[in-house]
Amino acid sequence: MIPFDETIPGNFAEAPAPENRAMPPIESPERKPVTVLDFARWKSLGRKISMLTAYDHTMARLLDGSEVDALLVGDSLGMVVQGKASTLGVTLDQMVYHAEMVARGAEFALVVADLPFGSYHASPEQAVMSATRFLKETQCQAVKLEGGRRMARTIRAVVDADIPVMGHVGLTPQSIRRLGGFKVQRNEDQIMDDARAVAEAGAFAVVLECVPADVAARVTRELPIATIGIGAGAGCDGQVLVTPDLLGLYDGFRPKFVRRYAGIGEQIQQAIRSYVADVQSSRFPNASESFR
Ligand code: KIV
Repeated sequence: MIPFDETIPGNFAEAPAPENRAMPPIESPERKPVTVLDFARWKSLGRKISMLTAYDHTMARLLDGSEVDALLVGDSLGMVVQGKASTLGVTLDQMVYHAEMVARGAEFALVVADLPFGSYHASPEQAVMSATRFLKETQCQAVKLEGGRRMARTIRAVVDADIPVMGHVGLTPQSIRRLGGFKVQRNEDQIMDDARAVAEAGAFAVVLECVPADVAARVTRELPIATIGIGAGAGCDGQVLVTPDLLGLYDGFRPKFVRRYAGIGEQIQQAIRSYVADVQSSRFPNASESFR
């Protein structure tokens, strides 16, 4: 997420230098498409789950080819794609549009799409209708929706319609008007109760956003389903980040929990400055880039 109470200046340096990291294996022969069942299996094996957001086909292909386990078509696109201050304005039609492109680019990663604000709050029936669109009109395998105990009935209805659900508790960005902004959520009893309710309602996994690391570790120990953390410490079963934040594509506000693995934004600007200079000085195009 972008606007947040706790930022860290320049934690880009914390990421290991690319030359010190093993190249990720691309499409190893034993790789199989991920299903929701893998999340429970991986939790029981202690094998950590990697998830990243994706909003378009090209990025989905790149992430999928880098062996990330799951892609989230997050309503964070309201901020990092649409340039808005929150996720509240994102519509169901827009989410379906992006989810279709992403899922077509993902051969192996499990694709989960966010139900946007207002598309599931009126009733469990509305949630089922909205969630059904993702499975009918896209190749997504699951939906994510925000809220704990108060959304349990809704989660149950969607799961009963054979649509796998990922829950989302702690900081739920669709609730910022009620929460008073993007703030770390510290009420341990409430987080625990919300996560339990989500699991009991049949969700296959739950995102824990911006909660203290010890609380997230406890939820992870006590819950039978996989926990995916964002700003929730290393004790979760997996991690998710907003891809433009991780890649340094977004130069806005950077929350404390984002680790920048690249500075793609600066690279793009450098490339574009070279292009502009080449156009202005007539160095582009040259003869080999022109037709006879
Ligand atoms: O919309 C989103 O990208 C999310 C993640 C931050 C978990 O919900």
